[in-house]
Amino acid sequence: MELLKGKKGIITGALNDKSIAWKVAERAIAEGAEIVLTNTELSLRMGTLNSFAEAHGCKLIAADATSLEDLGALVDGAMEHFGGPFDFVLHSIGMSPNVRKGRPYEALDYNFLSKTLDISAISFHKLLRTLYEKDALKEWGSVVALTYIAAERTFVGYNDMADAKALLQSITRSFGAIYGQAKHVRVNTVSQSPTATTAGQGIAGMEDMLKYADRMSPLGNATADDCADYIVTLFSDYTRKVTMQNLYHDGGFSSVGLTAAEVATFPKE
Ligand code: NAI
Repeated sequence: MELLKGKKGIITGALNDKSIAWKVAERAIAEGAEIVLTNTELSLRMGTLNSFAEAHGCKLIAADATSLEDLGALVDGAMEHFGGPFDFVLHSIGMSPNVRKGRPYEALDYNFLSKTLDISAISFHKLLRTLYEKDALKEWGSVVALTYIAAERTFVGYNDMADAKALLQSITRSFGAIYGQAKHVRVNTVSQSPTATTAGQGIAGMEDMLKYADRMSPLGNATADDCADYIVTLFSDYTRKVTMQNLYHDGGFSSVGLTAAEVATFPKE
């Protein structure tokens, strides 16, 4: 099947072969898409994206997603490479200095909080704005960003990333309305199960969170590969009227209250 045959797009945030974006890049190529890859200079030095780009013959453009200048050069570079406007973009970017430095939510460092919000949420506004101002996406184009259910419900250890994800989802609705009206471009977030990646492992108690979510999800946790399968459908022409949505991709976790398996673990009186 070549779901994305003839389609072209930018994929951000692939650091290494654990990254959700890495799996999306692989899957998009397998479905016939042509992609431009991007990450920060530092991540390109630390990770293994250079070798992926080489192996698959993809153009790689370094960009810090908090810099409008870098994003401008990224979008210009992609348009030049593709010979004009393109079809899809994946925002797969998240980082919290508070999480990294172990600052608990009740004692946040506010400079760190600004960085968390800038990198993990406002970068999405900057990216959408750059695409919009440069008219870089074709009619019925598709933009997807990754989020987590901690935007709506509290999860211990997720810290200020929860605030960032809530903002990311709000930007999705606000910009989705504008971009949809102007250009029929759709903008959605995918709310993914906890996944063992570099960013995921930074969250305190991640191992337990993975196990808990797996137990509480009728279909089990969605893996990064599962996520890639879902995201290519959102880049395809089969989801053209889906926009401004937060789409749960979590094995059913978000709709479960209590399971029989969980009840069985309760101590008997
Ligand atoms: P990852 O660590 O592989 O990817 C995060 C990426 O963000 C890295 O490639 C990193 O270089 C990039 N990044 C950080 N600062 C940047 C900046 N200033 N400019 C450009 N790129 C920057 O981890 P993962 O898990 O694949 O994360 C991708 C997305 O998925 C993030 O938005 C994350 O919050 C989200 N997500 C992850 C879940 C998990 O459990 N791993 C669950 C739900 C959502």
